[in-house]
Amino acid sequence: MLSIKKVSKHFGSITAVKDVSFRIKKGAIVGLVGPNGAGKSTLLNVVSGVYSPSSGSIVFDGRDITNLSPNKVCKLGIAKTFQLVHSFPELSAFQNVLVGALFGNSGKISFVEARDKVEKNLEFVGYPLDKKNYPVKNLNVVELKRVQLARALATDPKLLLLDEVTTGLNPEESNDAISLIQKIREFGITILMVEHIRC
Ligand SMILES: Nc1ncnc2c1ncn2[C@@H]1O[C@H](COP(=O)(O)OP(=O)(O)OP(=O)(O)O)[C@@H](O)[C@H]1O
Ligand SMILES: [Mg+2]
Repeated sequence: MLSIKKVSKHFGSITAVKDVSFRIKKGAIVGLVGPNGAGKSTLLNVVSGVYSPSSGSIVFDGRDITNLSPNKVCKLGIAKTFQLVHSFPELSAFQNVLVGALFGNSGKISFVEARDKVEKNLEFVGYPLDKKNYPVKNLNVVELKRVQLARALATDPKLLLLDEVTTGLNPEESNDAISLIQKIREFGITILMVEHIRC
């Protein structure tokens, strides 16, 4: 499903990612681990189109996505959650997820279907629906992470990139997150997840 060949990314004199190659099979959950500054987030940002690689190539589902913009990569079926949660702070949890549902499925589903998708995904990630109209700027980190995951899922991805979903969670919350990831795979979504290892 994903083939990364000799990908490097430089920021000026800093080499964040150097000659990385690997492949991911459809239906897999693949973990990418490493210490601070190893280049994990940069690699996910390169795959999702946030950055263009300095060299190398990325093929997704048989298509070269090496220099595509994030919106195009998302439309092709790759969604990502961010290490430091990105959201639309003034919008509600519901509206944040609606953005994902409408953008990821534009032209494919109606507004009513998109609203349905939002409810289903918020419920699936364990976000309390009685808080669906709260502005996300008022949420705690666990709730924010759930909304971010629901927004990514609402785009209906084939490949989900998760950047440190368990960081900042207590052991019980981390176990919940791991169960969720396993359920997501059961829906046929392939997963590349980054976690942090302290050396
Ligand atoms: N936009 C940027 N501009 C300049 N340098 C950057 C940028 N993004 C990342 N870097 C640098 O690239 C290197 C890799 O950073 P990256 O965030 O990818 O590591 P990481 O493995 O995700 O680390 P962590 O476990 O702390 O999240 C670091 O030296 C970092 O300072
Ligand atoms: Mg990182």
